[in-house]
Amino acid sequence: MDKLEIRGGHRLDGEVRISGAKNSALPILAGTLLAGGPVVLGNVPHLNDVTTTVKLLRRMGVEVTFHDGVRIEVDPRSLTEHIAPYELVKTMRASILVLGPLVGRYGKADVSLPGGCAIGARPVDLHVAGLKAMGATISIENGYIRARAKQLRGTRIVLDTVTVTGTENLMMAAVFARGETLIENAAREPEVVDLANFLNALGARIEGAGTPTIRIQGVDSLEGGSYTVMPDRIETGTYLVAGAITGGRVRTLRTRPDDLDAVLQKLREAGAEITIGADWIELDMGGRRPVAVDIRTAPFPGFPTDMQAQFCALNAVASGTGTITETIFENRFQHALELQRMGANLSIQGNMVVCRGVERLTGAPVMATDLRASASLVLAGLAASGTTTIDRIYHIDRGYECIEEKLLQLGADIRRIAS
Ligand code: EPZ
Repeated sequence: MDKLEIRGGHRLDGEVRISGAKNSALPILAGTLLAGGPVVLGNVPHLNDVTTTVKLLRRMGVEVTFHDGVRIEVDPRSLTEHIAPYELVKTMRASILVLGPLVGRYGKADVSLPGGCAIGARPVDLHVAGLKAMGATISIENGYIRARAKQLRGTRIVLDTVTVTGTENLMMAAVFARGETLIENAAREPEVVDLANFLNALGARIEGAGTPTIRIQGVDSLEGGSYTVMPDRIETGTYLVAGAITGGRVRTLRTRPDDLDAVLQKLREAGAEITIGADWIELDMGGRRPVAVDIRTAPFPGFPTDMQAQFCALNAVASGTGTITETIFENRFQHALELQRMGANLSIQGNMVVCRGVERLTGAPVMATDLRASASLVLAGLAASGTTTIDRIYHIDRGYECIEEKLLQLGADIRRIAS
């Protein structure tokens, strides 16, 4: 398994181009199953999760071709199978996103239950309940969700919990449903809006994405078309924290400042100077040590849970004591245990990490456990004295395109060790 080796203590200074958003590319790729012709997608990031999704589509008989390494063309008209097999779903839970389109368009889907993951149980009961409310017959057999429906019918769905992929799955399922579907207590994440904009570009009739109430009028069919995936707000936030934790200056290019209000507010509280333009954000720490901040994760527009681990690393070297409360997932502090091994002075109290910053972390061999935890360890390694070696970095390759190249561009001393 590859490792990343980081020699810390270098103040980052430079610019980095942000890639397309993983959590938008994945639902949009699933949404191509609804298209009536070829779809060309731009700004799709080169990530393992995208590769897995393409493998899943191809396995269903969908034609996928890569153009000039930047655009992907997907033609669902050759689809032959409606199955998302365990061997693929177990490597990427987001495969559940084919459930809604398959049932909504083809009336049939056999999708492996994703099971839990490092950060929590991650049930999909709300996805299933919503489809049942729309008239699907669903049984859980041998670890698979087997869904059948002649034609889904529009209805009012009130989600018990704000769920991002649950909202996305039900929105896609509703595109061809008979009549109007209302999704209440819907997720408001920018990636939900990006998916709605993509589907509307093909002829869907979706209103209210980005608000707690999404209204979908069923249509008979969609066209093909083209769409450019939004920039990745979590990648953006991660590189801004890289600037903050090393006392440096980082400008993120081709991003969307509006998606990061809660994160930018906390970075300012930590003492960073933030300037923003139409499609760029610059953080300048001016060599200052960050000030500890208190974070409480929440659904968008609250502070994103996917940025929690990164701020845990920032608090680990900040002046003062900061608390981080995780309200979305039940087990998302595994990075904290590894940070302790690098000298962080923190304690885990239920769903809160209380951290009293130290002047300097010390490099150590550490292990990545999930995508954002691995980002947190990279950030800590950048700030630590000495060498940090991060194992199991397949986690990080799922969500960060060319991470070592981008960090090298910013002046980090980092290399990948193939093993
Ligand atoms: C999406 O996961 C993201 N993944 C996650 O990003 C992100 O952390 C999460 O949303 C929260 O923002 C993708 O978009 C591919 P949820 P998702 O359903 O949709 C509970 C990353 O690092 N719930 O919004 O799976 C659930 O247990 C990944 O890029 C149910 O109870 O998350 C959790 O407590 C990690 N029943 C809460 O809702 C359900 O049927 C929010 O989960 C569904 C969810």
